[in-house]
Amino acid sequence: MSTVLSELHDEARAVLDPAHYDYYAGGVGDEAVLGENEAAFRRLALLPRVLRGAETRDLAVDLPGGRLALPVLVSPTAFHRLAHPDGERATARAAAAAGTVLVSGVASTVAIAEVVAAARAVDPGASVWFQLYPHPDEDVTACLVRRAERAGCAALVVTADSPVFGRHRRDAEHGFHDLPAGLAAENMRDVPGAPPGGTRDIAMSPAVSWAHLDRLRELTALPLWLKGVLHPRDAVLAVEHGVAGVVVSNHGGRQCDVVPAAVEALPAVVDAVAGRVPVLLDGGVRGGGDVAVALALGAAAVGVGRPVLWGLAAAGETGVARVLDALRDEVDHVLALCGGRDLADLTRDLVVPRGAGVS
Ligand code: FNR
Repeated sequence: MSTVLSELHDEARAVLDPAHYDYYAGGVGDEAVLGENEAAFRRLALLPRVLRGAETRDLAVDLPGGRLALPVLVSPTAFHRLAHPDGERATARAAAAAGTVLVSGVASTVAIAEVVAAARAVDPGASVWFQLYPHPDEDVTACLVRRAERAGCAALVVTADSPVFGRHRRDAEHGFHDLPAGLAAENMRDVPGAPPGGTRDIAMSPAVSWAHLDRLRELTALPLWLKGVLHPRDAVLAVEHGVAGVVVSNHGGRQCDVVPAAVEALPAVVDAVAGRVPVLLDGGVRGGGDVAVALALGAAAVGVGRPVLWGLAAAGETGVARVLDALRDEVDHVLALCGGRDLADLTRDLVVPRGAGVS
């Protein structure tokens, strides 16, 4: 793991309420998937090319919904005000300053319009994307989409890996089920079905289907990413249903407890999509080497979830900036060591299994 990220993790753990630390850190079941996301990266190695580099390297990526100055964006995670009083505003400012996208979640403790305003105050061209779960009450989904559009979001991310809530033992042990007084999922305030001035719970339903996705796509002209895809056939279906991109993710090991590591699911999805739309990955990315491996396996960029929460808890906006700066610096360094000029030089032949020889 990146030294900077590991230090920020330790600082975050020291300052966070243990129940909140465990809410962020924990995973589903016995946390095997959580561990595997990181362990799978350690089972892979990069086989560098030599004598083909450049004095400076280009780390930028163009995606539907924005240009990233580095191939790392901020994955949607819930309840940033548990980590720091500035919450998602701080995360938005740091992401905008780094030139990357914040995917702001429906479970944000700051309303999406304020999150986008915070990013735009740093960089008027900043892109913020909005993540939502397809709500079983489609009036709620439509209301959220309109709010994201009015706020100025540049893309929507629909999370498909959560037909039901994951079961988190650490939360059960702490009895952590509700936000503390004064904090709420602000995007759910005054949605259809909410009490006047109050919020409605974020709901999930196993009956949500591709038809819901089609209706959502018809609701908006925004590019639509599908997050939480692991099966290559679902990636193909997603393309057929008109998504702008696919996010390979197992929700950071927080949903199904018998799925493969995200990076292990990536190559088959990349092959199935065959370049028709970009593929992102999140889960277990903890340093520039992991970013390089994922890109070499075909990801256009990666997302980070928990590392951003550690930075936020440790030092607010500055802490998130340190996470993104460290990752940018490390990706650049690895790219130089692999003889790369830009991210396209990270190709699949550079990835080999660790400890199994090279053929
Ligand atoms: C998440 N994640 C998530 N995903 C999503 O689509 N909507 C959400 O509301 C949340 N909430 C959430 C809360 C917390 C505390 C965590 C840690 C994660 C999943 C997230 O977007 C991403 O897939 C993982 O965090 C990626 O794994 P790493 O980087 O944390 O290993």
